[in-house]
Amino acid sequence: MGLYNKAEADMIQEMLQSKRSIEVLSEIDSTNTYLLSHLKNGHYRRAVIAHRQTGGKGRLGRSFYSPEGGLYISLDTEIPGDDEKFFRLLTPAAGVAAARAISVSTGIDVGLKWVNDIELGGKKLGGILAQSTVCPDGVRRAVVGIGINVNVTSFPDEISSRATSLLLHRPGGTFNINELAAVIINSFDHYISLIYAGDVSVIESYRSLLTTIGRTVTVIPANDAPRYTATALDVSDDGSLIVLCDDGSRRMLDSGEVSIRAK
Ligand code: BTN
Repeated sequence: MGLYNKAEADMIQEMLQSKRSIEVLSEIDSTNTYLLSHLKNGHYRRAVIAHRQTGGKGRLGRSFYSPEGGLYISLDTEIPGDDEKFFRLLTPAAGVAAARAISVSTGIDVGLKWVNDIELGGKKLGGILAQSTVCPDGVRRAVVGIGINVNVTSFPDEISSRATSLLLHRPGGTFNINELAAVIINSFDHYISLIYAGDVSVIESYRSLLTTIGRTVTVIPANDAPRYTATALDVSDDGSLIVLCDDGSRRMLDSGEVSIRAK
């Protein structure tokens, strides 16, 4: 594990509107894995930020390129009553929180690609990975990880045509990663408290940020089922993507089972 940066953690802590203990690490394999292991030790309401990850994780077993210059943050939250619907709202809520925070702290407007990509100019700016575990107190908690290419200046060949960063989009001066982290935490905690209270209006905001609706998409099932094309129609209140298949049937896509590629 890399160095623990207390001064940075204190700075972020001071900007918070909600109670969370902050840890800033120079390097870690994955902030999600790290935070999941802390939950196993009974430490809750934390946010872990790393300057770089050596084994950043994406959805469906993919990796997430995580060099210096990006924001890699994981936050934990209780899943009340082990409610799967609540868990499934966490990815849209984190997406909306990240998009709003980027807009507030940099003035750059980004979109979201169902279910977990943050998009800028048709390229991937970042992503979200929600995982969960049962904690020693018997409560299931989620770890929501958000990765954003903030000041990253280059990408490996395999992803360079599909990936972008805030700095590549608007060169000139680097962006303040810790300020962005604080705004994301505040925004995420705000949406989570609304969802706790039964207010799922965050889905409205998610819909309005989605670049996927109305587009032809390739549906890629996580099992070995064949891919197919469809038109994305809408998102349901639990975050499923509703698509119109070429044979005229409608399907609700569950994020745990498929990913999509916009055409
Ligand atoms: C994806 O694009 O499929 C999701 C990427 C999620 C990346 C973030 S970075 C912080 C947290 N730690 C990880 O290992 N992954 C998430």
